[in-house]
Amino acid sequence: MDTLFIGNHWIKLDEISSTNDWLMSRILNEQFLEGTVVVASSQTNGKGQRGNKWFSQPYKSLTFSVLLKPSFLSPIHAFDLSICVALALSDSLNKLRSGFKIKWPNDIYFQDKKIAGVLIENQMSQFVYQNAVVGIGLNVNQLHFDDLSNAISLQQIIGLEFPVEKVMEHICESLEARYLMLRSGHFKDLKKAYMSNLYGLNQLQSFMVDNKKLNGKIINVHRNGFLQIELIDGKICDYDIKEIKFLS
Ligand code: BTN
Repeated sequence: MDTLFIGNHWIKLDEISSTNDWLMSRILNEQFLEGTVVVASSQTNGKGQRGNKWFSQPYKSLTFSVLLKPSFLSPIHAFDLSICVALALSDSLNKLRSGFKIKWPNDIYFQDKKIAGVLIENQMSQFVYQNAVVGIGLNVNQLHFDDLSNAISLQQIIGLEFPVEKVMEHICESLEARYLMLRSGHFKDLKKAYMSNLYGLNQLQSFMVDNKKLNGKIINVHRNGFLQIELIDGKICDYDIKEIKFLS
């Protein structure tokens, strides 16, 4: 792997419940270097965002977690890290072919289907960001998704089988590049890249808020991660991830 620290140490496991849980529970009592990667061939209890499960097919999908220690980042700017991870994923996939987009906050889509998801779990005190366990799930060689009508894999998009660990190495390289930008204070450039690759920016679409359907356009994402929407009546509203759902 062509990196300075991400992936210098990696732990390969066969079957575990979740790479995020594995790392989160161990960093409480053991010292791990920043950039440590834990990858599992199979996850039995993969976790997604909003308490959802993350389904993956053993050996065919990529499920891994990277330990970062963003102590330079204020906990109130935790969303900056989310931006880096989403960009790293879209950077590495767009090198294979164009068309991969970031769906707010950090899902990766190809057209209207999801190929990858991110779950970042943090350990922080009031003022210090200590550890971030960055969990990434990417559909690589799956050809069937039982109940997930909006899922797609790299093989389905490109028509080739990919070596799962090679894909992981490329993601780690892109992640390090974006993380180093963040570490050296290039937040504006990161935000610009994120916005220019955001799915549905300035396009009229439907959302669900408080069991009500709303129509509007995404016009911005704030630094705290809130989504800014201009509703069709011209009103501008901000929503966090727990409040709003995409309807398409
Ligand atoms: C989502 O889109 O809801 C986030 C999915 C994140 C899945 C990855 S797979 C590796 C890591 N371990 C987990 O249990 N979850 C993340």
